[in-house]
Amino acid sequence: MKIILGVTGCIGAYKSAVVLRLLQKEGFEILPVMTQSAQQFITPLTLEKLSGHKVVSDLFSDHTVQIEHIHLARESHLLLVAPATANILAKFAQGIADDFLSTLYLSTVTPVIVAPAMNVEMWNHKATRKNLEILRERGVGVVEPGSGYLACGEEGEGRLAEPEHILEAVLNTFKREKSLLGKRVLITAGPTIEDLDPVRFISNRSSGKMGYALAAEAQSRGAQVVLVSGPTQLEPPDGIDLVRVRSASEMATAVFQHFARSDVVVMAAAVSDFTPANVSSEKIKKKDAKPVIHLEKTVDILKRLGQRKEWQFVVGFAAESGAVRENARRKLQEKGLDLIVGNDISPQDQGFESDFNQVIVIDSDGREEEFPLLPKRDVARILWDKIETHYARRAVNHRPQTTDIRQ
Ligand SMILES: Cc1cc2nc3c(=O)[nH]c(=O)nc-3n(C[C@H](O)[C@H](O)[C@H](O)COP(=O)(O)O)c2cc1C
Repeated sequence: MKIILGVTGCIGAYKSAVVLRLLQKEGFEILPVMTQSAQQFITPLTLEKLSGHKVVSDLFSDHTVQIEHIHLARESHLLLVAPATANILAKFAQGIADDFLSTLYLSTVTPVIVAPAMNVEMWNHKATRKNLEILRERGVGVVEPGSGYLACGEEGEGRLAEPEHILEAVLNTFKREKSLLGKRVLITAGPTIEDLDPVRFISNRSSGKMGYALAAEAQSRGAQVVLVSGPTQLEPPDGIDLVRVRSASEMATAVFQHFARSDVVVMAAAVSDFTPANVSSEKIKKKDAKPVIHLEKTVDILKRLGQRKEWQFVVGFAAESGAVRENARRKLQEKGLDLIVGNDISPQDQGFESDFNQVIVIDSDGREEEFPLLPKRDVARILWDKIETHYARRAVNHRPQTTDIRQ
């Protein structure tokens, strides 16, 4: 397995040699790439001698027939940038390709991991936060920097993660990459819209970010993903099968249609519990008598799935504004789920519309695990790790072969 190790211009560049060595010990072949600035901090000779490969840094220096950045991108299995400057994160996020490493990033289809290192103010700057958010949404792995004494003389967050943590992130990426290969995954996301008349509707504040992050993560682990999505502003992840729906009833139809061909179902959508009993075909006029809206219950999709499931592993979400644990436990039992993810949507910085979520995961044996506030992409990673563990355990007990059932 070949890893491209990108090194950029900061004091922590010297640690790239340690990262390189740790990766080699795990049996990886390292192809080093340095930016011009990185060479102010560590000489190419060091990485060249350690890796046994020529360091590439200039887009135009190589006059062989092959185009080096395309060739290198095709030849490797992972792009790791450690340390990654604020500058390279910005270039990756915006798709700027003005040197070898940034051009290589655009040519790469393998997983990408960045290990940022910078001064605390640069790390906390809104531009850097935004660039990281873009990269995370795109599926780039971020090895969070540590806290402590920084090269600039200040204390705070921004120090390059320990080489061992960077190695762990690389190993986890390879472990996850194919872990859902051959599995069919059905995920729902976003809100539903229940029309009152041609211009008005009842909906909710779900952004769809959690469901889309779960779909991207499942896809990156090799699953065949069907994402049934209510109306959102989000870009669907590449390579998934997107089914757009509007109402709770449309979502129910789409989910039931795909359920029989799914191995794992994750219901992250905020499906409306009620819908107007009558939809006016004309816009309800202001001068009409004070309108009364009669609501009726929508189909309880999750409960139906819990009743119908055979081999399928069904995961539900409990978005609650209080008593999260108790409500999640009740929902898990009532709906016959395999796993439930409870989250409190009342704080401003988490849940609906936010890029962050704080979840509690409860399994069908009643065991629970609580996680801190994390970016939704990281929550998605944790949830798939949990789902895979429980799914594998249940498959051993209930079902000899996934393929047997589908035949
Ligand atoms: C002494 C010194 C230390 C630096 N340390 C960092 C750093 O830790 N993180 C960072 O993002 N930029 C740092 N910079 C700024 C980058 O080197 C600069 O933004 C450069 O353009 C990055 O280029 P590159 O991303 O192509 O390597 C430092 C600059 C100097 C002069």
